[in-house]
Amino acid sequence: APPTTAPPTTAPPTTAPPTTPPPGGPRVDNPYVGADVYVNPIWSANAAAEPGGSRIADEPTGVWLDRTSAIYGNNSPTTGDMGLADHLDEAVAQDAANGSRPLVFQVVIYNLPGRDCAALASNGELGPDEIDAYRDDYIDPIAEIVGRAEYRNLRIVAVIEIDSLPNLVTNVGSRATATPECDVMLANGNYVTGVGYAISQLGAVPNVYNYIDAGHHGWIGWEDNFGPTADLIADAANASGASPSDVHGFITNTANYSALEEPYITVDSNTRQSSWIDWNNYNDELSFAQAFRQRLVQAGFPSSIGMLIDTSRNGWGGPDRPTGPSSAGDVDTRVDESRIDRRFQKGNWCNQSGAGLGERPTAAPASGIDAYVWIKPPGESDGSSSEIPNDEGKGFDRMCDPTYTGNPRNNNNMSGALPDAPVSGHWFSAQFQELMANAYPP
Ligand code: BGC
Repeated sequence: APPTTAPPTTAPPTTAPPTTPPPGGPRVDNPYVGADVYVNPIWSANAAAEPGGSRIADEPTGVWLDRTSAIYGNNSPTTGDMGLADHLDEAVAQDAANGSRPLVFQVVIYNLPGRDCAALASNGELGPDEIDAYRDDYIDPIAEIVGRAEYRNLRIVAVIEIDSLPNLVTNVGSRATATPECDVMLANGNYVTGVGYAISQLGAVPNVYNYIDAGHHGWIGWEDNFGPTADLIADAANASGASPSDVHGFITNTANYSALEEPYITVDSNTRQSSWIDWNNYNDELSFAQAFRQRLVQAGFPSSIGMLIDTSRNGWGGPDRPTGPSSAGDVDTRVDESRIDRRFQKGNWCNQSGAGLGERPTAAPASGIDAYVWIKPPGESDGSSSEIPNDEGKGFDRMCDPTYTGNPRNNNNMSGALPDAPVSGHWFSAQFQELMANAYPP
């Protein structure tokens, strides 16, 4: 029974406080609009410790769960002692501190069996057949954590498994670019099964927004790769109990260097003959992402899907950036003198020399694009330039060795990698400094 005599010691609240977090409501069309985005304190501290780094240390970057132990915090140089729940707790604090604006939290799901079958720098901890471990020990715990009531008001963007499905189109079978490892992953179906499982489990959490990786224009922009990749992604979105409605959108250029736009080159029947464009239908990420979005809708995804583009390292500014189109007669010379992307070849992906920070994270920058994002944290290596023993599932890929003369996947060009790089994910100060020096916008 209520006390009859004792008066309340404080005035009762005029409205009852919520006993559980208020419902986050249905998903919004574009989670980035009107929202702030989580700043990873670990990356931010690394950036702020660099000379000049405080200029960008407040930018949001992706939180990578690059192996099972990262879910719990494994004291690696990249993740420090913060596991997923620690980051989400911190995200709730950042959300509470920013007024009424919602907060987007960006997490990268990256631990497929036989991961990154066409490269060695991040080929992961799970063997090609370890799909059960992926489901039980990796995806299920993540889904449980992000599904907790206390995180219900966050907009959780899940970037799903970069460098996986497109490999099953481009790096298999009789193609010169094939690898035995990608043939295995095509045959055993575990990329398709795993991606389907990830999006179905995470998609069951009402405030998770799944964005599946969709390569980049210099990988699947060619006719032979474009449609088949969209169709394969659609297969994955129907595997393991998933449905295309579990997918909110797609991301291109994750951890890559492809230019957002090439302002001094028009893609036409002449420039397509250059060895730089090499008959690709696209020469920049923005037009590719917009076109691939439409092809994905054709493959069965909802017409509401939106695209993200990772612009963390595709700025290509600095003193060597062209300032206008070349007028050279020879098409190769003209394209080479006009292009802002100064890689040797678009298949180069490791610690690219000359690269700069790209567009700062921006919501709804263009039609069909939900946001420009920094998923790859600038300053974290893509791979070591020589073999470095480690217990993180990181191999040595010669695409990270500046003396390497290439393979069919970069058309036998020099790798263009910076020297003296640590293993993937570890802090690479020289790269961070170069990315700032060559930033575009500056
Ligand atoms: C590495 C991860 C790292 C991520 C972000 C990947 O290439 O394999 O360990 O967390 O990059 O830097």
